[in-house]
Amino acid sequence: MGEMKQLLEKIVIFDTTLRDGEQSPGASMNTHEKVLVAKQLESLGVDKIEAGFPASSPGDFDAVRAVSQSVSTPIVVGLCRTRPEDIARAWDAVKEAKNPGLHTFIATSDIHMKYKLKMTREQVLKAVEEAVGNCSKLCKSVEFSAEDATRSDRDFLVDVFNTALNAGADTINIPDTVGYTTPQEFYDLVQYIRDRLHPTEDITISVHCHNDLGLATANSLSAILAGARQVECTINGIGERAGNTSLEEVVMTLNVRKDRYPFYTDIDTTQIYPASKLVSHITGIAVQPNKAIVGANAFAHEAGIHQDGYLKERTTYEIMTPESVGVGRSSLVLGKHSGKHALRNRLEALGYRLSDEELNKVFNRFKEISDKKKEVYDADIEAIVLEEVYRLPDKYSLKYLNVTSGTVSVPTATVRLEIEGEVVQAAGFGNGPVDAVYKTIIGMAGYHAKLLNFSVSSITGGTDAQGEVTVELQEGKLVSIGHGSDPDIIVASAKALVNAMNRLEFLKARKPRKNTGL
Ligand code: KIV
Ligand code: ZN
Repeated sequence: MGEMKQLLEKIVIFDTTLRDGEQSPGASMNTHEKVLVAKQLESLGVDKIEAGFPASSPGDFDAVRAVSQSVSTPIVVGLCRTRPEDIARAWDAVKEAKNPGLHTFIATSDIHMKYKLKMTREQVLKAVEEAVGNCSKLCKSVEFSAEDATRSDRDFLVDVFNTALNAGADTINIPDTVGYTTPQEFYDLVQYIRDRLHPTEDITISVHCHNDLGLATANSLSAILAGARQVECTINGIGERAGNTSLEEVVMTLNVRKDRYPFYTDIDTTQIYPASKLVSHITGIAVQPNKAIVGANAFAHEAGIHQDGYLKERTTYEIMTPESVGVGRSSLVLGKHSGKHALRNRLEALGYRLSDEELNKVFNRFKEISDKKKEVYDADIEAIVLEEVYRLPDKYSLKYLNVTSGTVSVPTATVRLEIEGEVVQAAGFGNGPVDAVYKTIIGMAGYHAKLLNFSVSSITGGTDAQGEVTVELQEGKLVSIGHGSDPDIIVASAKALVNAMNRLEFLKARKPRKNTGL
């Protein structure tokens, strides 16, 4: 690849999972979670991490600052409107980063300027000049975005971008904010702009696509062919409405189709799957089974004719290997006699690089599970990592659970919870064992919460498989999602509820975001 890289041009990967991705309904992440994701993005090799919108809430400010202090290789970017107070706040949040970046934006389409901003074109141009000028005084890496670019007047856009470049921007970003453009149209737009820019130094053209018509990846790739050298994207394609361009789709297309796209990225593709798992676990947003690259079926060959061909020669039906994106294909199964060394090897093969302390936690839980379950599969190990390593420091934790149920007895649950260090115990009845557990736990926390969704699935096959439970809990306007896994599905259900309660506590403590117009 070293030699090859010299012949190819680099595409900068700007990850906005923690900013635009976090704007997906229900996807809010707390500081601890954002730092975990940021570290994984650093292992993945992204060039820039947009960590949040610091002026939008104190929680966002703290999270961006914490991310700035936690990663060293990527540029940590804070988003800001063109207002001086937004810029100051974003700079305060990122200034401790080894490589800080500012990203300022304003809408440029007539419809946004008239109805949202109530500003004229001249006023917008002035705001761009001042804002980019202010950012450039603070920071070397400055990006300017023309929100709703794809519905903006082309010549006005060119003026806006040239104004930004003159004021010191090193990257100009062309967002398809409402996911409206098509590959050919976007190609033309990027080319039109590129041909009319007057940069005095090296600058980068970036694109930022939304997926409302399912075209975000296609549009981003088309823009690359027209001269864009930065793609803004998110893990699993999460983001506003139908989401953003999916990082894994763009990166793997560039990887697999070098004949069409003579470019490279600095992404370590074997870290894609662990990143996908982590983001879906933390946000509670499941990955659809047929999602390209990271969906559960992305490498499954179901049809007999496909299986036959695949077994004769893998490339008959496989254009990339699961291993290349960090999906384990091994049939290696661990069991109760497997030691820590074997577990570490397996974790590394799955893309998880854990500290000794983290490995110990995972190993202890692995031993508990392998006592109950003969064979421990990769999916079991992943579930353990997500629960033991990536879980929040909790207000509530489950200490003890005993449930009786059956054809004659009234389902009864006895629960011991630790609530902020104090152990409390209660018992209750219900219509079934899960109902008894839920009523008891919710009562102990004094919640008036409503259970919106409850789903159970099996992590692997077999009756001794671990159950994975996902719950959605609502209190007032707040909705949180929790996960739990255990070979005992009643225990998994209790864990999922407790996880959802802890996430609800975070949402309650967080001050609401300001209306930032995004
Ligand atoms: O979609 C959009 O226009 C944005 C900008 C802030 C870049 O997210
Ligand atoms: Zn966006």
